[in-house]
Amino acid sequence: MRQKLIAGNWKMNTDYQEALILVTEINGMLSDELRNPAVKIVIGAPFTHLHSIKQLLTHPQVSIAGQNCHQEAKGAYTGEISAAMLASIGCEYVILGHSERRQYFGENDALIAQKIKAAQEKGLKVIYCCGETLEERENGTYFHVLKEQVQTALSGLDETSFKNIIVAYEPVWAIGTGKTASAEQAQEVHAYLRSLLAAKFGEQAAQYCSILYGGSCNAQNAAVLFEQRDIDGGLIGGASLKSRDFVEIVKAR
Ligand code: PGA
Repeated sequence: MRQKLIAGNWKMNTDYQEALILVTEINGMLSDELRNPAVKIVIGAPFTHLHSIKQLLTHPQVSIAGQNCHQEAKGAYTGEISAAMLASIGCEYVILGHSERRQYFGENDALIAQKIKAAQEKGLKVIYCCGETLEERENGTYFHVLKEQVQTALSGLDETSFKNIIVAYEPVWAIGTGKTASAEQAQEVHAYLRSLLAAKFGEQAAQYCSILYGGSCNAQNAAVLFEQRDIDGGLIGGASLKSRDFVEIVKAR
């Protein structure tokens, strides 16, 4: 059975005090929701808050994630954060390849492939994000675009290292726009991504891989998305900043 996973991506939001309040609320509300051991919950908070957040989490199914890491192990890269730094404060995951990293920081899949390698060397599980723009959706090239992204970013992996990859399909046109992909649109892409993964890593590994949907996923639309056969949870931006909404999404899994 595939791992169901709900990950919050807080992006560059919350100051330290706000973060502690938010995570205390989420932690408290989650108690009843964690009887099903198959669900994993991940909090992708800003770097400065992660260590303190970790101390406040009391459920083994809840983990913390960095929102990025550098591709080099260490060195003179002012302002950057390494995979080892994240691992050393108890991060289990790192989000890599988010469309905002691609758009505002010039990241591409060749670089993301290096980051994935660096993260895996330190034992981090990777939530790898891919997704097409509105233009690519409308001109019908989105399958091609996704194939290029996935094949490049995951090119350095084998069947064993692929086991620590979670894929997040995040159509760029749906991120922060209030415009969600329909359940059918998302399922179509998730099934396609799984077929790409099967071709590269084998059918069994692809069946085992959790593929998350992200992009204006909220408490109202989560259930219908998560019902789809190839949707194994969500990467949640805006709605992860409200404790009640986030927990409602966890319940919808
Ligand atoms: P959103 O963001 O839920 O606010 O659309 C999702 C994401 O960027 O991961």
